[in-house]
Amino acid sequence: MSTQKVLYLEKAKGPFVVSDAPILKPGPGQLSVKVISTALNPVDWKIQAFDFFISKYPAILGTDLAGDVAEIGEGVEGFSKGDKVFFQGFFANEFAGFQQYTLVPADIVGKLPSNINYDQASTIPLAFTTAAFGLLGPAGVNLDPTLEFKPKYSGQPAVVYGGSTSVGQFAIQIFKHLGYGPIITYASARHADFLKSLGATHVVDRGQVPSSGFAEVAKKIAGAPIKIVFNSVIDGEASTISLNIVDGDGEVADVNPEAKSPGDGRKVYAIFGNSHPPNNREFGRVIWKALPKLVQDGLIVPNRVEKLPNGLAGIDGGLQKLKDNKVSGVKLVASPQETA
Ligand SMILES: NC(=O)c1ccc[n+]([C@@H]2O[C@H](COP(=O)([O-])OP(=O)(O)OC[C@H]3O[C@@H](n4cnc5c(N)ncnc54)[C@H](OP(=O)(O)O)[C@@H]3O)[C@@H](O)[C@H]2O)c1
Repeated sequence: MSTQKVLYLEKAKGPFVVSDAPILKPGPGQLSVKVISTALNPVDWKIQAFDFFISKYPAILGTDLAGDVAEIGEGVEGFSKGDKVFFQGFFANEFAGFQQYTLVPADIVGKLPSNINYDQASTIPLAFTTAAFGLLGPAGVNLDPTLEFKPKYSGQPAVVYGGSTSVGQFAIQIFKHLGYGPIITYASARHADFLKSLGATHVVDRGQVPSSGFAEVAKKIAGAPIKIVFNSVIDGEASTISLNIVDGDGEVADVNPEAKSPGDGRKVYAIFGNSHPPNNREFGRVIWKALPKLVQDGLIVPNRVEKLPNGLAGIDGGLQKLKDNKVSGVKLVASPQETA
């Protein structure tokens, strides 16, 4: 049996260790992929710190991937060996990102657009999917469940709380393509030009305006009732601040899984941004059918990349940086094939 290098989280709340593991064969409907790039997400350090989502240890984490199709399972059509692909992983070893080879169901895979590289592609799956489930799909605000990206909400204000987060960057882009304006976001001033290039019209500097004052500033800029907010921050106050921005029957899509509707007409959608589970699968397929072309056409642009050294062994240090809030406006990306 062929073996590969993987990064194991050895036990609940335990250490990460580079180890050997078998390369799995794809089952029916699956692809095996040689992982060239895998991006890190806050959920990865949170799983290590708090022990959730994982049913079996040692566990492999990582849910953002790009690589080459290595083997094709029975019944899969439309893919060939060697195709460059990008896709989202799941919280099970066979579908995880922090390893040299992984499996993925072929119905939620995209071909790599030719205008981006593997590293850039690996920044997209989880963060775009999260913004899409929150704003576009039927489990969220349901603005555009077929991902047609027509400007049908022209002239309506929208807010992204935390626009420089990976997820927030995609929420800004989605609002732009649906025609929203002004698009107001709360982020550090150093990211203002970049966030404006994505579609934000107003970047409120969180170094100048305290979070407690943002709602008032946003409402003043909007000049009209704000009916929609995307919250991409989990910090104990962001969900409440986001809710306080929307008017009357307004809606909030929130990355915080504990966010709830207040019961007064305003609606809150707590997002689970993953295409794998059966209840998310149908809209997941819609996303993966549309996403490669949206990227190829330049409508959706990836996050900026910061590369980690030392293959899988470098991931531990990257997760520590994320945990310490030392990652600002970029996505950390590792190359599993560079593991010693
Ligand atoms: N529910 C789901 O399915 C789901 C999916 C994905 C992510 N999430 C969660 O969503 C959050 C964002 O994830 P991510 O990967 O997008 O994060 P990320 O890119 O790692 O976030 C880093 C950014 O957070 C910004 N930030 C931190 N605190 C902030 C605050 N109080 N106000 C405004 N901006 C703030 C920083 O902004 P500046 O540099 O501008 O200061 C920094 O650029 C995480 O908590 C993650 O766990 C949930």
